[in-house]
Amino acid sequence: MRVDVFTQVPHAFAWLTEQKPLATVLGGELELRLLNYRDTTPLRGGQVDDDPYGGGSGMVLRVDVVDAALESAYGDARPGRIVALTPQGRQLDQQLVEELSAEREVALLSSRFEGFDDRIVSRLCTDAVSIGPYVLSGGELPAMVLLDAIARRLPGALAEGSGEHESFSAELDGGLEYPHFTRPAAYRGWEVPEILLSGDHGKIDRWRREQSRLRSVG
Ligand SMILES: C[S@@+](CC[C@H](N)C(=O)[O-])C[C@H]1O[C@@H](n2cnc3c(N)ncnc32)[C@H](O)[C@@H]1O
Repeated sequence: MRVDVFTQVPHAFAWLTEQKPLATVLGGELELRLLNYRDTTPLRGGQVDDDPYGGGSGMVLRVDVVDAALESAYGDARPGRIVALTPQGRQLDQQLVEELSAEREVALLSSRFEGFDDRIVSRLCTDAVSIGPYVLSGGELPAMVLLDAIARRLPGALAEGSGEHESFSAELDGGLEYPHFTRPAAYRGWEVPEILLSGDHGKIDRWRREQSRLRSVG
């Protein structure tokens, strides 16, 4: 699939692109483009935002600037999913991650300062997505959150089997994952559940499913 991130700060993504699993799928299952609104703005001096109508503080990302960025990237063939990252959007969950990772092309639009001219969200985007009910300073971290979550779902991103029993997976009926333990088996009197040391994989599997169910209640 291809993900295009529209941003004023493309260099912010350098760290993420070097990390697994994104680094594993980049150039293979995932093509990533980082597109700077400033490179295609029709305004002089690289301007991308403006004062809000009606007054008030902060700058607002302009609709003509974003439309020009989309036009330059796609012409008439815009992606099926154009996602505005905004605290006012649908809250991100695993179901939405699965949905987006099944697309062939996704565009992620980030903003800064006061946010988007509302016509960007209502006229140019198909989705508005929030990564949680709090306000960050820009859409770059939300775009990275979504990118990482999408990359994990692409073929070959994870070691075989490691993505199957994760929290929110169908394998665990959408619930939370069971607890994990590693060596030492006892530390300061805190013991690992004995069943995990038993070597009985049938019992361990049943115990894990029960633990997952208990953690997921409520
Ligand atoms: C300071 S915020 C703007 C907040 C906006 N004035 C409001 O009150 O809803 C600047 C940008 O950061 C991004 N952003 C901030 N918090 C976010 C969140 N929880 N989820 C997704 N994007 C977020 C969005 O791209 C947003 O336009």
